[in-house]
Amino acid sequence: MASILYLDQSGQLGGAELMLAEIARQVGAPAHVILFDDGPFVAFLEQLGVSVQVERARLGVTKSGGWFASANAVPALLQQVRTIVRHARRFDLIYANTSKALVVGALAAAYLRKPLVYHLHDILDESHFSQMNIRVLTSLARRFATRVIANSQATADAFVAATGDRSRVDVIYNGFDIAPFLADQSDKRVATRGILDTERNSFVTIVVGRIARWKGQHVLLEAARSQKDWTVWIVGDALFTEEDMQYQRELKEIASTDDLVGRVKFFGFREDLPTLYAAADVVVHCSTAPEPFGRVIVEAMLSARPVVASNAGGAKEIIRSDAIGWLVAPGDVDALRETLLEIKRNPVLADLRAQAGRFDALSRFSIDTILGQIRTSVEKCVS
Ligand code: UDP
Ligand code: GLC
Repeated sequence: MASILYLDQSGQLGGAELMLAEIARQVGAPAHVILFDDGPFVAFLEQLGVSVQVERARLGVTKSGGWFASANAVPALLQQVRTIVRHARRFDLIYANTSKALVVGALAAAYLRKPLVYHLHDILDESHFSQMNIRVLTSLARRFATRVIANSQATADAFVAATGDRSRVDVIYNGFDIAPFLADQSDKRVATRGILDTERNSFVTIVVGRIARWKGQHVLLEAARSQKDWTVWIVGDALFTEEDMQYQRELKEIASTDDLVGRVKFFGFREDLPTLYAAADVVVHCSTAPEPFGRVIVEAMLSARPVVASNAGGAKEIIRSDAIGWLVAPGDVDALRETLLEIKRNPVLADLRAQAGRFDALSRFSIDTILGQIRTSVEKCVS
């Protein structure tokens, strides 16, 4: 197997990083991860036995801004490329897992004439990125990526629309270690609610994911506003930007308004998600922009919980039929409320779909199947 240098810009535990952890643990010999920032992801990788180090880079770029916005941007970028070139010499392949990792990785791979895999976790369209960022990322990928792994068909389609190049793209969904989601939680359900100070008979809706405006947690709060017997659990943290922090403050304000006060619980980042999913009545995904993939939707299905998701992007590839879940238009508060009421009124139907959802997710998203696909894609680059 080829030796692989993995690059990721973040030290936080986002979905792209959780997927990378499994890949780096099991694909590549040797495998080494370089992160462009410090954070809990470092210890997470170390615990899995993955070799990791931080090479901090202040590239001063945001998703919606542009490259080279500050005077220091070009020197900082070149410095980071030099650092990565130094490390990458002893590896067969560079694997870029995020957009900034692509920029640095592409230049390093071009210099060293090494193959480059770009694992694309983002939909490269204007709902997520500025036009300039889309141009920079797609040009670099077109010129330097040997293969592009897209985390959904929606992600692949946006990439192909921007580059016209389908031949190097492999669509590979995220994979999951399913065991924690299959453990029997039925005896913990009541206890968990007790610990969490949530009434036993309350209808518990849970939304899991980082706090960011496009993740749309406010949509669930608005849907719950008129329903006095509902509780909303918001699990996740503002991970990346000051704007995320601002949105978190806004959510807390909404949650403290008269109609909602006492019915909304903010958990911050949690590591015991299987228990939380199991203690909820329904899992809600409410992103207002197309979700590139949506790990939390799969996790909800593996937990055999009824799941409602925004009908766009990767979410509608995961919930591929109404026999396994519910889809509503992104941002449509009334449609979300009606769907949740339907689920509440029909627990038997909800359970049937949830069980079918678990079955479907087990057949499509096991980590072993997905890692096999990743290995095949990587091998195409080094053979
Ligand atoms: N997650 C977690 N604890 C939290 C919130 C989120 O472990 O408190 C995990 C969640 O289980 C999922 C990932 O973070 O695996 C989020 O991935 P997703 O693809 O849903 O969204 P992203 O944040 O990557 O856009
Ligand atoms: C990104 C996307 C998310 C996806 C994850 C893993 O963070 O926002 O939709 O599930 O990567 O591929």
